[in-house]
Formats: sequence, C-alpha cells, structure tokens
Amino acid sequence: MQQLAVVILAAGKGKRMASDWPKVLHPVGGRPLLAHVLATASELEAQTRLVVYGHGGEAVRTTFAGETGVQWVEQAEQLGTGHAVAQTLPLLDDAGVALVLYGDVPLIRAETLQPLVAAAQQGSLALLTVELADPSGYGRIVRDEQGRVRRIVEEKDATAEERRLREVNTGILAVATAKLRGWVAELDNRNAQGEYYLTDVVALAVRDRVTVEAFTVAEPEQVLGVNDRQQLAELERFYQRRQAEQLMREGATLMDPARVDVRGTVTTGKDVVIDVNVVFEGTVRLGDRVRIGPFCVLRDAVVGDDVEILSHCRIEGTEIGACAQIGPFARLRPGSLLAAGVHIGNFVETKQTRIGVGSKVNHLTYLGDAEIGAEVNVGAGTITCNYDGADQHQTVIGDGAFIGSNTSLVAPVRIGKGATVGAGSSVSRDVPDGGLCLTRAPRKDVANWRRPVKPKKG
Ligand code: UD1
Ligand code: CA
Repeated sequence: MQQLAVVILAAGKGKRMASDWPKVLHPVGGRPLLAHVLATASELEAQTRLVVYGHGGEAVRTTFAGETGVQWVEQAEQLGTGHAVAQTLPLLDDAGVALVLYGDVPLIRAETLQPLVAAAQQGSLALLTVELADPSGYGRIVRDEQGRVRRIVEEKDATAEERRLREVNTGILAVATAKLRGWVAELDNRNAQGEYYLTDVVALAVRDRVTVEAFTVAEPEQVLGVNDRQQLAELERFYQRRQAEQLMREGATLMDPARVDVRGTVTTGKDVVIDVNVVFEGTVRLGDRVRIGPFCVLRDAVVGDDVEILSHCRIEGTEIGACAQIGPFARLRPGSLLAAGVHIGNFVETKQTRIGVGSKVNHLTYLGDAEIGAEVNVGAGTITCNYDGADQHQTVIGDGAFIGSNTSLVAPVRIGKGATVGAGSSVSRDVPDGGLCLTRAPRKDVANWRRPVKPKKG
C-alpha cells in the first residue's frame, strides 16, 4: 500500500466571516473546522498530514500545538490553490499518494474519500464532484460527448454555456504525488483571477492520458464550505442532525432531535430519554435508561444506569452512580463523584466532593472539598465553609450522619459516623461518632416588648 499524505488547504483569509479569528478556528460541534478535517485525515490513516496556513497562522498553530503528526506549511501570499499545494511538495514523498482537502470543508467523511484514495493508488486522478441545483461560484466539471472529464473551468473563466453545467468541483482530489509534482510545476496564472489554479491539473492529466475519475458525493452537505457565518450556522445544524441521528441509533429517544446539541462526544446506553434543549460538551457517557430533563448542560460526565436528571442542571467533570436523582436546578462542578442512589435537589452546588451511597442533599446547599459517607442526610441550607480566603479545606462527614438545616461546616472539620448536627449550627470543631452537636445561641424572650419609636416633631 502506498503512503498517503493529506494536504489541507487553510490559508484563505475568510474575509466574509468578519472575524479577528482565522476562519478554520471557528467551531462546528464545539471543535474548530480544521479539527474535523484533521480527524478525518487520521481516520484515513494518513502517514502525513500537512496544513497550509496563512492569515492568522500563528493562532492556528497554537490552537493545534497538542496535535501530533501535523506538518505546518506557510503560504505567505495566497496566490491560488495550485500555489498552496506547491508549497507542500518539498515535504511530500513521490512514492505516495496525495489527497487534497480544504480546512473550511469540515464535514467530509472518510468513507467518501476512501474510493478516491484507492483510485489514485491505481494511477488515476480522482476528483470529488457534486451536482448542485445552484452551481454558482463553483468550478464546473467539463466532460466530452463520451462523458469523460476533460477539465475544470472556474466560474469567472467560464462561458455562458459552461456556467449552465450543474456538476461542480468540490476541490477535493487525490493523485499520485509524483504526477501532482509535475503538473503543479506547469501551472500558470493566466486566468480571470490571476491565480494558480489547482484545478488546471485536470486538463494536464487528460493531456498526459492519465485516467480522470470523478466520484460524485450523494450528500452535498459533506462538501459544503464555510465562507460566512450563515454557512457556519447551516453546517452546525447539519452536523447536529448527524449527532442526533447517531444518538437515536444507539438507543436514545430525543423528544426533539432538532433541540439537542452535541459539542463533543456522547455515547449513550439503551432506552435513554433526552428532553428538549440539552447540550452535551466534551466527553459524556450515558448509561442505560438515563432520563435527562429539559435545559440541562452536561460536560465531561459519566452518568450511570437509571439516573434521572431533572430540568435546568449544569453538570461538569462529574461521575454519577446508578439510580441517582439530580435536580432540578443543580450545579455539579468538577470533581463531584456521586455514588449510587444519591439525591441532589434544587439549588445544590457540589465541587470536589465525593458522596456515598444513598445520601441525600436535597435543597439549597454548597458542598465543596468534602467527603460525605453513605446514607447521610444533608439538610437544607447546609454550607461547607471550605475557603478561608487563602486555602481550601476538607469537610468529612461519616456514614449515617444527619446535618440539620442551615448549618455552616467550617472546614477543616470532621463529623463522625451517625453524628447529628442540630439545625442552625456553625460547626468549627470535629463532632465524634454518634454525638450531637448544637451551636444554636440560647433563646431569650421578653414579653410585651416595645420597639423604640421616634419622638413626634412638635
Ligand atoms: C475552489 C476551486 C473550485 C471549487 C471550489 C469549491 C480552484 C481554482 N477552484 O474555488 O473549482 O469549485 O474551490 O469550494 O481551486 N486556499 C489556500 N491558498 C490559496 C487559495 C486558497 O490555502 O492561495 C485555500 C482556502 O483557504 C480554501 C481553499 O483553498 O480552504 C479553497 O479556496 P477558495 O478561495 O475558497 O477557492 P474557490 O475560489 O472557492
Ligand atoms: Ca470557497
């Protein structure tokens, strides 16, 4: 098998985005456009991935600093797609095959590209084309009477008759690197735009009697590019539709597939029900029979079987054990580890907190930097005072403890197993196992109390 090099063109300015950011850093599905294309190249098991960058290139390189196996090639001046490819040729191996992709065409699938790579490995020049009802703006595929591809003509160079052709060039092509090298060296810029057109290699291939194979993509969205924010939004919707379909295939019921957004990766168990306006970010794993109410955001979370998440929760960096019940209006922050059967109710916030099996934290509570045992009852309005202005301290609550409402746990502090804290307490020293702690101030009653009154002005 010949080596595959994927050349990703991403030097264009993207002026119509009206952005300070390079176009390829704008996200679809929470990831930069370029990240999608790089991932597709990896799926194809490309030995080399090259990105031609230009405008705002430093920001692009910084964003992808962690991505290994990418070679960056600068194209200081954007003189056309042919010129862009020419910049990569010194880094390409003549024994291999090159596949050209665009950094701003993010939704192309590896399955669509595989036949092009295979054709190039057999010695053809492989093109990806698409039939469009409105072909305006694109290069047209010109065929002869036998239907063989002869050349590509850019719209600005096309005759009125050629402009009526509806089969257009997606810009994606694959060919043996040695052939590409020869043809790119022959390109000139004598055309309407004064650019070096990569598309001119097609006519050169025909001249050299190299077979040109055009593959037509059935799903036009795969080859849609992003030039402005309108197109970005359209691609986002198409991408989200794909994610929703995937979730449904895996066994999730979506109350409205148009109202769930996946900005990352979600895997779901069977018989999961996801209500409207749920957003997933990062990596989320849902067990079987999970139910998620409307208006929830889940980011980097693992959710066990039979968990119910009621509406309006934000859950991040959290693991939730089986059968737990969360929300409504709960905020689970990073490091929240909830065991099976835990209940978290409304207006409860947790952070760096482990909660044992069957414990209940039902209302208006903050638990930060805490270790809560099993079968603990945390009353309404309990606050771990975990921060002294400089450092954060731990609160530990033993199994079976009962924390009365409106309690302040001044960390570091430890509440023993089976201990009880009376409502309204402020606990700053440890409570032993089985003990009762009550810090309520003694009540004072004064009968027939008269409030002070202002003397009337005479
Ligand atoms: C190109 C094709 C056209 C095709 C269309 C599909 C050519 C001459 N024309 O036209 O046949 O129908 O794409 O969208 O190839 N780029 C660089 N450096 C440059 C110029 C472009 O890296 O000097 C990159 C851009 O960032 C972009 C891609 O190449 O990702 C395409 O460039 P663009 O200017 O959009 O090409 P079109 O004129 O639309
Ligand atoms: Ca374009």
